[in-house]
Amino acid sequence: MTEAGADFPLLHASAEAVPLPDASFDVVFCDHGAMSFADPERTVPEAARLLRPGGLLAFSAESPLHFICWDDDTNAVSEQLRSNYFERTSADDGESIVFSLPYGDWIRLFRRQSFTIEDLIELRPPIDAESTYNEYVPHGWARQWPAEQIWRCHKEEPNGVGS
Ligand SMILES: C[S@@+](CC[C@H](N)C(=O)[O-])C[C@H]1O[C@@H](n2cnc3c(N)ncnc32)[C@H](O)[C@@H]1O
Repeated sequence: MTEAGADFPLLHASAEAVPLPDASFDVVFCDHGAMSFADPERTVPEAARLLRPGGLLAFSAESPLHFICWDDDTNAVSEQLRSNYFERTSADDGESIVFSLPYGDWIRLFRRQSFTIEDLIELRPPIDAESTYNEYVPHGWARQWPAEQIWRCHKEEPNGVGS
């Protein structure tokens, strides 16, 4: 914050239970953060509670494809579907737990919390991109399948229209 010349309060709390008032934010976002490492059944309702009508929920996370192609034996992503898409919605390696829902479950969860889905961006690196994170996904894999995705949703206005 000092380097960037920014000055704002920071709060250390779980996104599953944020100690802040209802309808107090215009944007809720994270980059491979709470929406991956906390239970979406708890974080999406919290995001809905914290946002003002028309507010934006945007977050990046692992794609379901990457999640089900992960090989626990080699600890690397494979080119095979290795786990049950419908039934394995979290993975715990003993150090951390990561959540990944099927697409339909995400959509129904957003809609139950009065979100309008604006976009699902499936990330594909440029052909000449260089990664510093090859242990997560090799460049060749990510050129063929989305390893990461970004959801963009708006909290509906009281008249039922997302902005
Ligand atoms: C992979 S790191 C995010 C990296 C970050 N976006 C960056 O570019 O440096 C995962 C983050 O999720 C946060 N996190 C994990 N569980 C959380 C929870 N229940 N509530 C809020 N944040 C959580 C961790 O504190 C950590 O900062």
